[in-house]
Amino acid sequence: MNDLFPKIMLSRSDGVIDLAWGHPSDNLHPLNDLKPAIDAIFTNQEISALQYSGYQGYGPLIESLSQYLSEEKSYTKTINPEELYIGYGASHGLDLACTLFTGEGNTVLVEEPSYYLVRQILIDHRLNIVGVPTDSEGMQIENLEQIIESLKGDVKLLYLIPSFHNPMGSVMSLERREKIIELAKEHDFLIAADEAYHLLYYGDPPPPTMATLDNSSTGCVVSLGSFSKILAPGIKLGWVQSKPNLVDKFTNSGSNFSGGNNNFAGAIVDIAIRKGILSKHVTRLKNTYKSRMEIMSAALKTHIPDAEFLMPQGGYYFWIKFPEEIDAMALEKLALNEGVTLRPGVAFSGQSLFPNYIRLCFALSDIEDISEGIHRLAQAYYKYVSG
Ligand SMILES: Cc1ncc(COP(=O)(O)O)c(C=O)c1O
Repeated sequence: MNDLFPKIMLSRSDGVIDLAWGHPSDNLHPLNDLKPAIDAIFTNQEISALQYSGYQGYGPLIESLSQYLSEEKSYTKTINPEELYIGYGASHGLDLACTLFTGEGNTVLVEEPSYYLVRQILIDHRLNIVGVPTDSEGMQIENLEQIIESLKGDVKLLYLIPSFHNPMGSVMSLERREKIIELAKEHDFLIAADEAYHLLYYGDPPPPTMATLDNSSTGCVVSLGSFSKILAPGIKLGWVQSKPNLVDKFTNSGSNFSGGNNNFAGAIVDIAIRKGILSKHVTRLKNTYKSRMEIMSAALKTHIPDAEFLMPQGGYYFWIKFPEEIDAMALEKLALNEGVTLRPGVAFSGQSLFPNYIRLCFALSDIEDISEGIHRLAQAYYKYVSG
């Protein structure tokens, strides 16, 4: 095999435990579980799966997804098929939202810190990115109001991750979600809510998605859902949840009108939903990730008492604060020497903030590797502090 053209994004070195990448682990991919869904396409001679898709996506999937979400505890109301557009995932949804609703030089507000890879999408669209300070619940409302005021209301888009934030793991309260929607209505900006982790809760469900809470008449929210974290990223499919008039904009966008989207994946996911494969898989993921999260928390408390963190309630990540004098980028190098990887906090900031923070992912490695990984991190940490 030629490493120049790898099959997957993730690259790992032998003997190194990866706590850096936010990808699901290989042994959790539902290859065998999806076999009946894939087989059904052949058994039923579902030839439409190979044709250009319907404009809004593969029709049966729009219906099965609307039912799946409507029955989900964390959605709290019926989600109609008219409120859904099928796309390639949360990243694609954001890219398309930028294409449709922003222009070069427009201002987009983002949480500080935020998901670092999304930044490039905003840069690709030549947007002016302005960070908004956060606390344990995400974007701080007072700061947000001040920033909007200082920009004289000249804000086009607000990107946020309300549930199980990447990297903070935080969940935004219902009150804060509602307040941000009020601000969007008042100042006429669009909220792009990245809900990639919304369905991965390990205790109580998070408050409803931002689009579910959107009480405006013409719509001020697009909620970006994804099958990447609940089924498999290689399926490369997701959805936009919004008011029907905004869904129409996605449906009528140029690239969609010209090429539609991935009908083959759409047909597989539709059958996976109807056969209960998706819900069974989500339950399995939640149980597995919950135990990995608990192991990581216990190992951190035992081996690195200096590491401060809030216990996440879902998603993939621990956001860890070390004492002020710790340089997480130096720690990253020492950790790699010990055979474990991490993401330094500055990677998630547009302003080089969070120099003494790190993000650890508990989704990619299994419990043995997580325990050993934290042990190695502790060795690196104590080497660092002892000079
Ligand atoms: C916050 C967030 N949004 C989006 C994505 C990517 O989602 P998708 O595969 O649906 O584009 C990730 C992946 O790590 C993520 O953490």
